[in-house]
Amino acid sequence: MTTNKKTKEYSNGVLTIVWEPAICAHSEICIKSLPEVYNPYGKPWITIEKATTDQLKVQINKCPSGALSYYMNGEEPKLEIEGTQVEVKLNGPLIISGNIQLTDVNGNTEGKTKKMAFCRCGDSSNKPYCDGTHAKIGFKG
Ligand code: SF4
Ligand code: FES
Repeated sequence: MTTNKKTKEYSNGVLTIVWEPAICAHSEICIKSLPEVYNPYGKPWITIEKATTDQLKVQINKCPSGALSYYMNGEEPKLEIEGTQVEVKLNGPLIISGNIQLTDVNGNTEGKTKKMAFCRCGDSSNKPYCDGTHAKIGFKG
């Protein structure tokens, strides 16, 4: 198995946020939910100390693409999803959560347990992932 996605981590000593920019769907839910933590113009753009661990968990679980995830420090990273679930978002991406093994067009295989958003509109610049373009083009389906 090869891993080709870059991630960054931000820890408050209890919880660690894992940020995987390559799969962000640019929904901006994070910025709207906790603007004091997520500032797209800030360096770093995540200031984890500005919210409690519980607030961070609630917000991260709302990230539709899985670009934001977390693990509790000292514990194995895990997603609390049984099996694999597929959800079709109205006028938006396909959300797949759980155990995912993805093989890209170059034959690179990546295995993960997480949530990912895949493009259904066909216009993402980051295929196969959704990059939020569906909203800009008014995709219906
Ligand atoms: S997909 Fe997740 S990380 Fe990207 S903007 Fe939306 S909530 Fe934030
Ligand atoms: S479904 Fe989101 S960019 Fe295509």
